[in-house]
Amino acid sequence: MWARIFTAALLLTSVFSFIIDKRAAPVDQLVGFATLNGSTTGGTGGPTTTVTSLAALRSAVSGTSPKIVQVSGIITGDGEVVDVGSHTTVIGVGSNSGLTGGGFRVKKGTNVIFRNLRLSKSPAPTDLIELQTSTNIWVDHNTFSSDLDHDKDFYDGQLDMNHGTDFVTVSWNIFTEHFKTSLVGGSDNTGDEDSGHLRITYHHNLFQNVNSRTPSLRFGTAHIFSNYFNSVFDSGVDSRDGAQTLVENNVFNSVKKPIETTLNGGFSNQRDNIFTNSTLDPDLAVGTLTSVPYSFTQDAANTVVSIVNANAGAGKVTTLP
Ligand SMILES: *[C@@H]1O[C@H](CO)[C@@H](O)[C@H](O)[C@H]1NC(C)=O
Ligand SMILES: *[C@@H]1O[C@H](CO)[C@@H](O)[C@H](O)[C@H]1NC(C)=O
Repeated sequence: MWARIFTAALLLTSVFSFIIDKRAAPVDQLVGFATLNGSTTGGTGGPTTTVTSLAALRSAVSGTSPKIVQVSGIITGDGEVVDVGSHTTVIGVGSNSGLTGGGFRVKKGTNVIFRNLRLSKSPAPTDLIELQTSTNIWVDHNTFSSDLDHDKDFYDGQLDMNHGTDFVTVSWNIFTEHFKTSLVGGSDNTGDEDSGHLRITYHHNLFQNVNSRTPSLRFGTAHIFSNYFNSVFDSGVDSRDGAQTLVENNVFNSVKKPIETTLNGGFSNQRDNIFTNSTLDPDLAVGTLTSVPYSFTQDAANTVVSIVNANAGAGKVTTLP
């Protein structure tokens, strides 16, 4: 009899651990649009340099040969962009490394990874990260933060992408204390270079205490899954100028306008999301994005808050991809 109870208990345990372990993407692997077009490996195979000053950082990330640049400690910027060349991995050491008072830009580059960085308070017009006319970029496990003490234009974007940028994955980041979070497609007049490009995956990010643009997307295509939007004061996913978005298995808590399409002429197909204290616009223009050209698994919305809170941001995954 005890043997039978024991067996029953074992069986139950394995059933429950199966349920608990039923997780999506491993926390440290690339999925999404940055896996296409040859995938995104950053500086894998190149030499490693560790930098502790702005001058050393600028010099280490320049050029197009493969390289890994470890940022040690918080480097203070000069308000100007730090231009990152192709085939580069920029990774923070430990849990408190990154850049404040300036930001990174990839311009006409390809194959760059940003991981485990704390990026904060870059005065406009320098974004914390700007991707311009660039392909295959992976922005993973960073914490972007500013403050809400200044007016909304004092800082610019936390993560902006424009001028035909393509094949980007934005995963496991924290975006917080900011007005204009992530602008994709910089203007209504850039349809010629942006249409058919700006293909971006946002997954497992925490957007918390921000005003808007999580993201705001013109012309492009965004797959937005298993993110936690917690307290967004104005618009969340804002699809404009024909942009197509697929928004699934996310949690929207206290988001004033969780998904918008009709205001600005974009499209959004939303499914399996949880909305609490957030009112979904009943008139979404659904559009055509019902599937994506890569395989992935996603966490169900009712597990997203705990998984994202436990794993997003700097200090969680400190090793190279
Ligand atoms: C794919 O990436 C390469 C750079 O490795 C770039 O030159 C090319 O334009 C990309 N393809 C597309 C369709 O954007
Ligand atoms: C509900 O969301 C609004 C923002 O849309 C926020 O101002 C308010 O504090 C939230 N209420 C609660 C109880 O969290």
